[in-house]
Amino acid sequence: MNHRPANEPAKKPFVVGTFLPSVGYHLLMRKPAPADYPVLDVVRERWSPVAFDPVKPVGREKLLACFEAARWAASSQNEQPWAFIAGDSTDAPETRDRVFELLYDGNKIWANTAPVLILSVMKRNFDKTGQPNPTAQHCVGMAVANFILQAVAEGLHTHQMGGFDRDRARVAFGIPDTHEPIAVIALGYDAPTETLDDEKLRGRNDNPERTRKKLTEFVFSGATNSWGEPSLLASPVPTVPEE
Ligand SMILES: Cc1cc2nc3c(=O)[nH]c(=O)nc-3n(C[C@H](O)[C@H](O)[C@H](O)COP(=O)(O)O)c2cc1C
Repeated sequence: MNHRPANEPAKKPFVVGTFLPSVGYHLLMRKPAPADYPVLDVVRERWSPVAFDPVKPVGREKLLACFEAARWAASSQNEQPWAFIAGDSTDAPETRDRVFELLYDGNKIWANTAPVLILSVMKRNFDKTGQPNPTAQHCVGMAVANFILQAVAEGLHTHQMGGFDRDRARVAFGIPDTHEPIAVIALGYDAPTETLDDEKLRGRNDNPERTRKKLTEFVFSGATNSWGEPSLLASPVPTVPEE
């Protein structure tokens, strides 16, 4: 992937033919984030499609690379409080279908195209002390972020979902009370929007909007009694005019 300059304006998503050595010729929908400051290509290129190619398998090698990236995430006290229940339409179809069945209808209408569906799970307490781990969910998110960015580097896409039945997940997979289901991750190659039957979904997949809060809305100064006041660190260093 080429590095593009920051401040690239939002543009209509576009489909490009890309040759990835490991995948071959591949049609890739692009919606690069219009980042205000330069960031890694994998960050800009990640987005959440609702059109996946249901017949193009992810392949064990790429899936392993994604899990390996998750494995090397940082975590509080190196506790690694994450677990994943992994379904793949080629190699673990029953698990994939059981994860799919947990999804709410609004997700079922598109997620069935994804060849891989993974449920992330969090361990609540520290192994060593048995005490609650206050950052466990953060750590699962760290592992998932690594997974997702590795997926982008592999030419894959992901779409995470909080919209699923947690109680049924617990029963379906025998998740003990020591653990908590967190989110479902759809993984696969993106497919052209035209493959979607539903008009609303097509509009969603093609929507060029990539909006985020400004840094000044969430990087705060921490000054006394000034919650929400932007930090000067959220703005560029002012340039000193030359004499
Ligand atoms: C923890 C989490 C839960 C999410 N749950 C859903 C969901 O249930 N259904 C859905 O369609 N998208 C879901 N999303 C996707 C977000 O809507 C999406 O990431 C967000 O709108 C930003 O779009 P982008 O990922 O394309 O940048 C979820 C994302 C995260 C991180």
